[in-house]
Formats: sequence, C-alpha cells, structure tokens
Amino acid sequence: MKFKEIVENVFYCGLNDCERDIFDELIPLEHGTSYNSYLVKGSEKVAIIDTMYPPKTDEYIKNLEENGVEKVDYIIANHGEQDHSGSIPKLLERYPNAVVITNAKCKDNIKEMLLVDEAKIQVVNNNEELSLGDKTLKFILAPGVHWPDTMFTNLIEDNLLFTCDFLGAHYTFDDIFADDSKELEHSAKRYYAEIMMPFRTMCKKYTQMVKDMSPKMVLPSHGPIYKNPSFILDLYTDWTADEGKNLVVFPYVSMYGSTEEMVDYLIKKLSDKGINTVKFDLVRGDLGDLAMALVDATTIVLGSSMVLAGPHPAAYNAAYLAGVLRPKAKVATFVGSYGWGGNLFGKLSEQLASLKLDVIEPLLVKGKMKKEDYEKLDDIAEQISEKHKSLNLQ
Ligand code: FEO
Repeated sequence: MKFKEIVENVFYCGLNDCERDIFDELIPLEHGTSYNSYLVKGSEKVAIIDTMYPPKTDEYIKNLEENGVEKVDYIIANHGEQDHSGSIPKLLERYPNAVVITNAKCKDNIKEMLLVDEAKIQVVNNNEELSLGDKTLKFILAPGVHWPDTMFTNLIEDNLLFTCDFLGAHYTFDDIFADDSKELEHSAKRYYAEIMMPFRTMCKKYTQMVKDMSPKMVLPSHGPIYKNPSFILDLYTDWTADEGKNLVVFPYVSMYGSTEEMVDYLIKKLSDKGINTVKFDLVRGDLGDLAMALVDATTIVLGSSMVLAGPHPAAYNAAYLAGVLRPKAKVATFVGSYGWGGNLFGKLSEQLASLKLDVIEPLLVKGKMKKEDYEKLDDIAEQISEKHKSLNLQ
C-alpha cells in the first residue's frame, strides 16, 4: 500500500481494521476502526507518530519497508495503550537506532505493558520541542483524554495537531480525510460517548485549547483526518456542554410487559408536553446507542422488572454503565413491576449515586398498573417537565 501524503513529507502510514467488530471486548464497532500512524520526514530526522495494534504489526512494518522507510530516528508515543503503542517492540527490532519519545507517565506504561527497554525511551516535558531539521515537533501533555499518559504532538511548521484518541472515531475509510458527513458524525459521537464522556470536563478544556491553537488539520489516532477541524470541534463543544437537551432517555427491561407499559405511558405524556424521548430496550439494544443517548439526556428513567428480589441484571448493568460513563444528566427516576417482592430500586440507585442526580419518587407496581398508578405517572411526567423548565430546556 502506497502511503498517502498529507502535506509535503508527512504521510499516513496507519491501517484500517474493517473486520474488527468489538473494541476492548466491550464496545461494538459499527464500521470497524483504524489505527492511525504518521510518518514525518524532516530534512535530518525521520519520526513516526503513534504505531500500530499488535495483530497488525507485520502488515504495518511490511508497508513501511515497501514504502522505502529505511531509517526511523524517533517513535513518538502519544499514549501507552496497545492499539497505538503495541508495535513499538517490533518497530525497535526493525529500526534499532530509533528512540522512543514520550512523557514520563507513558514511559512507565510502555515499560510495564510492552517491556520496552528503558534505555530506548527519552522523556519529554510539556511544550518541549524536538527538531527533525526543517520540521519541529512540539509535545503537549493532555492527561485525561482518555488516559493519564496522553499527549498531543504539534508539527509546528505545518500547523498539524496529532491528538491521539481525542477527537477520534471508530471508522474506516479509503480517503484519509474526513468527509464531514452525518455518518462520520454518528461514529464520532458514539466514540465520544463510549470513550471520552467519562472525562467530559477534560474534553471540554482540550476542545477549547485546540480551538485556540487553530490547527490547519487535526490528526487523531482513530478515524479520518480533519482538514476542517471546526467540524469535530463544534461537535465536541456541543457534546461537552454542561447543559443537556430537552431529552429523557428510557433504558428498560420488561419481562411481562408491565414495565414497558409504564415506559410507554410516560413517553406519551412527556411527548405531549414537548419533551423528546429515547426508548431503549436493554435486552435487544446496542449499549453504544444508549451511551449516545446519554450524551444529550437531561433525565434518565430506568425501567426494570423485579428478578429474584432485585433488579433485572440488564437494568443493573445499565445503571452501572451510566455510573461509569458519567453523563451530564441532572434528573432520574425509576419505574418497575414485581410479582412477589424485593428491593428493585435500591441497588439501581446505588449504581447511579456518583452522578448526584435529582431523583424523583419512583413508581413500583405489583403486576399491572391500577388507576392510581396512572395518576402517579402523570405526576412523574409533570415533575420532569417542571425540572426541564427550571433548566430553561422548554
Ligand atoms: Fe485508541 Fe486509548 O487507545
């Protein structure tokens, strides 16, 4: 595969992984992913920015050889996770004179996780520069998007910013440049929801920082290169905003239909009040879609049947997931149905406790709803509406 030139003497040397359907054994991939790697040829030195996922290493090194890369002086490790640093050991075998350039935290990670010889690693500090001759790399520590060891690399003369996982997308492509399409926006949002949302405040800070830097291009380590950085930066500005949208998300699981009936009734009442809703089947749905809905939701209504005196495991899992993804939601409640008893909402509340949500009195019914239960749901819908009004969402 012939490398594509991004600007003069800067090449894309990464690979698509179209076959991969799940990431971290956790995140379903709709479009596979790419592991981006960049070759920067200065007048004196050659650098590679980020490397490759280990199973793709042989193909990656073969491509470097076929493109005539006989010398690599520096391997820039922007982040220690193996999808970007995993090829460093084999790359050092192929290019034994290369030195790994990274920050102190990432050095520890690649030493421990990849067994890279410490003598081959040179540590850089925030804003430190490295000359390649007519091109200069500047390193910007960016802990928290998404690991503590993350940094960005700025190619000063060309005004290119390599942002590692930040601003990326699990997306594959023929053209290395973003088409700014709705499909790409969808993938980038899904990626943000699953990977970056727990670090929303850091993402917000770095979004502004990148905006202030006004790079000519943003080059992440997954997904296409943004020739028009405002496409992704404007999306991140929206997703990382403190305020949610006029949206209620309903993750639910319903064994005999009673809980779903409660969910549907609330959705109808809220729709009548002009509030948008997303209904999410926790058994059949893709949790990535739930994570995406949580990017914008102001209220979460979790519905569950009682199973063995507690919440259904799918509801418990969803509550756990919401707790660790740390969405910006402000309000929550629960609805559910039981046959013979137990504690349905206590364990769900525990999982969401870290979000410090304003919890509306939940509704638990035995079997089917009765007349008074419909009235209680009317009251829940009214309370949600009032809270959204108080947040200026309606
Ligand atoms: Fe794409 Fe944090 O690795």
